[in-house]
Order: sequence, then C-alpha cells, then structure tokens
Amino acid sequence: QDVRLWGGRFADGPSEALEKLSASVHFDWRLAPYDIAGSRAHARVLHKAGLLTAEELRQMIDGLDQLERDVADGTFTGTIADEDVHTALERGLLERLGPDLGGKLRAGRSRNDQVATLFRMYLRDHARIIGGLLADLQEALVGLAEAHPDVAMPGRTHLQHAQPVLFAHHVLAHAQALSRDAERLRQWDARTAVSPYGSGALAGSSLGLDPQAVAADLGFEHGSSANSIDGTASRDFVAEFAFITAMIGVDISKIAEEIILWNTKEFSFVTLHDAFSTGSSIMPQKKNPDIAELARGKSGRLIGNLTGLLATLKALPLAYNRDLQEDKEPVFDSCDQLEMLLPAFTGMLATLTVHRERLAELAPAGFSLATDIAEWLVRQGIPFRVAHEVAGECVKVCEREGIELDELTDEQFAAISPHLGPQVREVLTVPGALAARDGRGGTAPSAVAVQLAEVRDDLVAQ
Ligand code: ARG
Repeated sequence: QDVRLWGGRFADGPSEALEKLSASVHFDWRLAPYDIAGSRAHARVLHKAGLLTAEELRQMIDGLDQLERDVADGTFTGTIADEDVHTALERGLLERLGPDLGGKLRAGRSRNDQVATLFRMYLRDHARIIGGLLADLQEALVGLAEAHPDVAMPGRTHLQHAQPVLFAHHVLAHAQALSRDAERLRQWDARTAVSPYGSGALAGSSLGLDPQAVAADLGFEHGSSANSIDGTASRDFVAEFAFITAMIGVDISKIAEEIILWNTKEFSFVTLHDAFSTGSSIMPQKKNPDIAELARGKSGRLIGNLTGLLATLKALPLAYNRDLQEDKEPVFDSCDQLEMLLPAFTGMLATLTVHRERLAELAPAGFSLATDIAEWLVRQGIPFRVAHEVAGECVKVCEREGIELDELTDEQFAAISPHLGPQVREVLTVPGALAARDGRGGTAPSAVAVQLAEVRDDLVAQ
C-alpha cells in the first residue's frame, strides 16, 4: 500500500534517492504527540462543520487515542517510507479505522499548516522547560550571593584589577543577564501563542472550518493566524527561539569562562566539587572544569544553530517551500543541548567552594583604591582633573617604592600634593571603598542587599 499523501497524479513511486533525501520522520517524530492533539482538534471542527457525524467523531477520537497510546509505548513508529511524522500518523490512523473513516481527517488541512502549528506547540513546551532550568541556575547564583554577603573581590575591566567589588555583586550581574533571558522566553511565548491550523496549504479552507476553535482547543491564547500565507510560511518564531537559546548559551559561556579562570592555580578563587569536575587519563593530579568548558563550547553550537536557520530563511519566497523542513533540526538541537547543559552547570555552581580569603586578599591589589583617593580629593573641593593626576602620582610612587597605597607615609602624601592630608587613609580600605558606593546598583553591601531582594522577588514571581 502506498502511504504517500500525494500519489494520485504520479505513475511512478519516488526513487530511493529522493525518499532518502525527503525523509524527516527520523527527526520530526518528536512532534507526534502534538500532531495527534492537532488531529483531535481538527476532527472536532470537521464535526462542527457537518463533515463528520457525532458517531464518526467518537470513533475518530477513539482511533486517535489508540494511536497515541501505540506511539507512546513504541508499538507504532514511522518509517522512512512514511516521509514525515504527519504521513506516518495518517497511516497509523488508517490502519486503525479503515480507509473510509480514517481517510476523512485530512479534509481542510495540509501538512503545511499542521507542521507550523505543531512546531509552535513543541517549542512553547520547551520554552517552559528551559525557563524552569534557567530558574534553577538563577537560584544557584542567588544562593552563591546569599552565602557570601560580605566577601570582597577584585573587580576587573579589561581583565585588569579595576576596583574592589562585592563577590555577591559580581555574581548577581550574571543573574541579571539570565533574568532578562527568562523574560525573553516569556515574551516569545506570548508572541508565539497564535495557531496556524486552518491556514491549509496557504490559502485557508473552503470547508467552513473554525480556526479559532482549533486555536482555543490547542491552547493558543491569542487565537488563529490573521493571514494564512503568513501562518504557513513564517518561521520568525523559530529564529527568535534560536536567538534566545543562543543568548542563554552566550550568557552561560561568560560565567563558564570565569569559572575556568577562577579554578586555575594562579587565581585560586574557587574549587569545584568532585562530582562536577573530571580527571585526566594520564595526569593523576588533574581536576578539570569540563562542565564549564562544554558550556563555553556549546554556546558556539547554539550560535551556529541560529545562523544556519537564518541562512535557510533568507530570501524565501512566499508561501511554504520545502526548505522549511530544514528549520527543525537546529532548534531541536538547541533544546536538547540546553536541557542537558543547564542541570550540569547549575550543579557545578551550587557545589562550588569559594575561597573568601584569597578573594579578599586580592581585592585591594593592583592599586584598585586609586579611584578612592581621587574621589576623596573631589569631596575636598579639588577638580577631578587635578585629583586624577594626584592619585596617579600616588600610584607612581608606590610602584617605585614597591609598596601599597595605604603604606604611603604622611610625608610622602604631603610631598605628592598639599591637599593629601593623613585623613585620606580613611578611604584606603576595601570595606570603606565598598560601603561608599551605596547608590542604586552600586557595590555597597546595603545596595547589594537591595538588589538581592529584588532578584529574589523576581525569581519567586516568574
Ligand atoms: N515535512 C515538512 C516540513 O517539515 C512538512 C510537509 C510539507 N511538505 C510539503 N511537500 N508541502 O516542513
């Protein structure tokens, strides 16, 4: 029996080479549960339109329920001859209901509106799964901040010592980026809550079906597509999903890079838990940050999925083109990779040991309090341009003498500038420098506590 949905006008079956090229069933099979849900909703609107009797609808739903069970337990699977998941499931339904009833379901729909709808349903479910895993990661970051409320560390720009910051402040900067990613997922989900079902191949249906009823049935909060051509041909929802997952990958890669550095002998800021690090096959002493490195590497792959997809979409004429079959594997991969990566990455962060003494010791190194001298002078009424010069001079003397800023004598301060009284020493401590930056978003413990509470509230709300 020919399973093809389009055999009527063909004298010959497809060549083996075409069949191989054309098949998507090996990767779109994961849409099967959504395809069956779509079929149930479609059967109901066929009944509403008078195209299925109540008894036919009952049998149709029974047949689909049976097929769903058979798919779930593996009794029924698609084959390469089925081409795609939609064709395979139609064969499954025909086998269960016979050609007379089974052959009625296809009226008024096309694989084009089906696949556009099911793909949205699949990605919306996975946006929620990824959102949940992201929340776990945010929780781990917030936990790190909460567990180290008063630990100072060297804040860096250009990877050079810049100014001391609170460790919690630094960690929460990553949490802020992730919370915007979580928000992106929620906003994307709302935009994607529109159902293309009923768009048919591209032009809609002449059978008096009700696309809005299908949309409601399938949980699309914003109804059905306003334009059937757009409904079947647009894939910006896929590209945007690929962007958000790539952005999550990039944001995680930035944390990963720091963990890799922090975990080196030279930094010695953190130690990874044994359960979240790996050894070497030749060097017995090694303990490697493989999770962080895989995160860094997979971010490249997630970016590749986005750019490959955009290249596929570029310059496609309306409406559906078979090129669009290439839209699924990249984002399926993005889902799979992130869903694998996030739990490991969260576990690594949640079990990290932070070496507070080491962080605190390095916080004032590299003359990172020089800005505090300049700002102290500004508070004495000195123009910042002059203050900057004077503080720079202090650094120069320290470098020459091989001492730190707080080791300058009163005489040395006075020799550098008459404005530099011994009271300047008050700001030459890390706690003083931190506490002074107490405006919103600053690194003072009081300001970081406010931020922490906001991030916490946000996490509870999302
Ligand atoms: N498998 C196709 C896809 O993933 C859907 C089928 C549409 N095929 C067609 N010849 N119109 O996009």
